[in-house]
Amino acid sequence: MAEDKSIYCASVTAPVNIAVVKYWGKRDPKLNLPTNSSLSVTLSQSDLRTHTTASCSSTYPPPDTLILNGQSEELNNRTLTCLKLLRSMRAELESSDATLPKLSQHPLKVVTANNFPTAAGLASSAAGFAALVYAIAQLYQLPHSPTELSRIARQGSGSACRSLFGGYVAWEGGEKADGSDSLAVQVAPPSHWPGMRALILVVSAAKKGVSSTSGMQQTCTTSALFQHRVKDVVPRVMGQMKEAVEKKDFDKFAEITMRDSNNFHACCLDTTPPIFYMNDVSRAAVRMVEWINEKAGRRVAAYTFDAGPNCVVYYEEGSGREVAGTFKGLLGGAAGWDGERGRAVEAAEEMAGLK
Ligand code: DP6
Repeated sequence: MAEDKSIYCASVTAPVNIAVVKYWGKRDPKLNLPTNSSLSVTLSQSDLRTHTTASCSSTYPPPDTLILNGQSEELNNRTLTCLKLLRSMRAELESSDATLPKLSQHPLKVVTANNFPTAAGLASSAAGFAALVYAIAQLYQLPHSPTELSRIARQGSGSACRSLFGGYVAWEGGEKADGSDSLAVQVAPPSHWPGMRALILVVSAAKKGVSSTSGMQQTCTTSALFQHRVKDVVPRVMGQMKEAVEKKDFDKFAEITMRDSNNFHACCLDTTPPIFYMNDVSRAAVRMVEWINEKAGRRVAAYTFDAGPNCVVYYEEGSGREVAGTFKGLLGGAAGWDGERGRAVEAAEEMAGLK
C-alpha cells in the first residue's frame, strides 16, 4: 500500500472562563487533582480566546512541535501528558478499526495564539489547554464527550477543564485517588441565563509575579485559613451557587462571587510568604462595585479577581447602564484610575457565556 502522505488538520477556538467559586490548591499535584470543587462562567462570546490548529502527517519530522503566539515553545510535562493521553485514545480507535489512518503514529504540529495577554491572570492557561485538547480530539475524531475530555484538559491546567463547556460549569473535585471522578460538568447552558454579562477591567497586562501553580501549593502548605476554606466554605457555597444559577438569582450569585473572591485572596494573604495578587487599582474597583450596588439599593454588580490584579465584574444586561455605564464613564476620564504603570486601566465589555 502507498504511504499516506496526507496532512490531517483541525482548527478550534476555546474561550476563557472566570471562576465564581475558585479552584485553589491541589490534593495530588501529579494528576492535578484539586483540594476543592469550583464553578465558573465561560465567556463564550468574548474576544478572550485561544485559537489552535493541530495537524499531523507522516511527512512531518519528529518530534511533536508547538508554536505559541508565533514563538516555538518547548513541550512541557503537562503538554506532553495531554498529547500522550490523546494519542493513546486515538491508538485504541485505530486498533479496533483497521481502515482508520494511523494518525497516532504521526508527529503533531500545534500552532496556537491568544488574542489577550498570556499569564496575566486572564485565564490564558484555561483557554489554552482547552483549545489544545479539543483541537487534537477533533483531529483524531475522538468520540469522547466534553466531560471525558475534561479529564485530559485538567492535567494540562486545572481551570482548563471548565472551558470545554459554555455557560455555567462545575469542576467536581472528586475524591478518588486516580482522579476518575474529578470532572467538569455543565450546570446550565448559556441560554439559561442569556442576560449575564461580564466587564473586564485590565489593570495590568504584565505577567503575574507568582504563578497559580506555585502560589496555590504555597497556600496549601502554609495557610490555616485555607484549611477552613476547603473543609467548611467551599462545600457549602458550591451548593448555594448552583441554586443561585438555577434560579437566576443575581443577588445571591453576586454575594457568593464577591465573598469567594475575597476568601481566596485572604488565603493568599495568609500564605507564608504572603501573596498579593490584587493592587490599589483592584481595590478601587472593589470600592466602585460596592458604591454602584449601594446606589442601586441591591446587588447589580459582582467583582471577582483571579491570580492577578485584573477585575471581572459580572452584571445583568438590564443593569448595563448602572454597571458598565458607570465604569466606562469613569474610565473614559481616566483620572483616579491610573494604575501602577501610568494609564494602565482599560475597560472592555465582554458578553458572557452565550454559546
Ligand atoms: C485563581 O488552572 O492556572 O484562576 O492547575 O496549576 O494550571 P494549574 O492552575 P490554574 O489555576 C487557576 C486559579 C484561579 C481560580 C480558578 O480559575 O478557579
